[in-house]
Amino acid sequence: MDILNDYAIGVFDSGVGGITAVKELNRILPNEDIIYFGDTARIPYGSRSKETILKYAAEDVAFLKTHKIKMIIAACGTVSSIIGTKPLTDDMPFTGVLLPAAQAACSATKNGKIGVIGTQATIKSGSYGKAIKTIRPNTFVVGKACPLFVPLVENGYTELGNPVATLVAEQYLKPVKAEGVDTLILGCTHYPLLKDIIRDIMGEDVVLISPGEEAAKFANLCLMEQNLLNDREDKGRNIFYVSDSVDMFEENVKQFLGHEVHGDVFKVDISSL
Ligand code: DGL
Repeated sequence: MDILNDYAIGVFDSGVGGITAVKELNRILPNEDIIYFGDTARIPYGSRSKETILKYAAEDVAFLKTHKIKMIIAACGTVSSIIGTKPLTDDMPFTGVLLPAAQAACSATKNGKIGVIGTQATIKSGSYGKAIKTIRPNTFVVGKACPLFVPLVENGYTELGNPVATLVAEQYLKPVKAEGVDTLILGCTHYPLLKDIIRDIMGEDVVLISPGEEAAKFANLCLMEQNLLNDREDKGRNIFYVSDSVDMFEENVKQFLGHEVHGDVFKVDISSL
């Protein structure tokens, strides 16, 4: 008989970026199976309208639900911001990256000034500001859209000292830094890849929050609370599905994580579901 605890954790993102959440899930929950969907054929989500993002997100969830899963994580900063605190499904545990990251930032800040960087859709939604102020009223929040960060990361311009990435990051981050924030939410899956450059500009004292990691920690607590953790002893499997080329995804993962993808990768036609 099927046991719910043995089911996988479903994770989705507009592309490869949600792998930061998978990496953390593999670290803290090594016995769990992960089913990942990366909508690589339709990335970017961050420059699209709310209606389109919601439509894509609903399709991503529907695809994950064709598998045996016990929880869904929307590892995409854009989707998480557009839905705010509303879950995308109510028949199983669900989390986006917004609340876990907002909570982590509220715990980290000492001076009550938090910066948020993300895609245009994320910043326009104002969701981070709302979530932070609900958790910690009177917090000062400054948001900045950094639309050029995703293509920089996709093209591998991530190393500390890279002149193009540094110039762009300085343009975006200077006004955020000028506000005196002591905590910065890297509110898009791709941004943790620019951590070294961002830290260099913001300074060592500014705490950088990676939403994918926070969402993975949150999922752990959630599954624990609901008695849904897998109690087997052998290692879990990662299975990745993408809507565009498998080779390109594998290449991108290598760039993202610095090593080969850990798991099988399959192409899926999401429009045929
Ligand atoms: N995954 C998106 C996010 O975290 C970044 C890429 C996109 O625009 O789709 O916001």
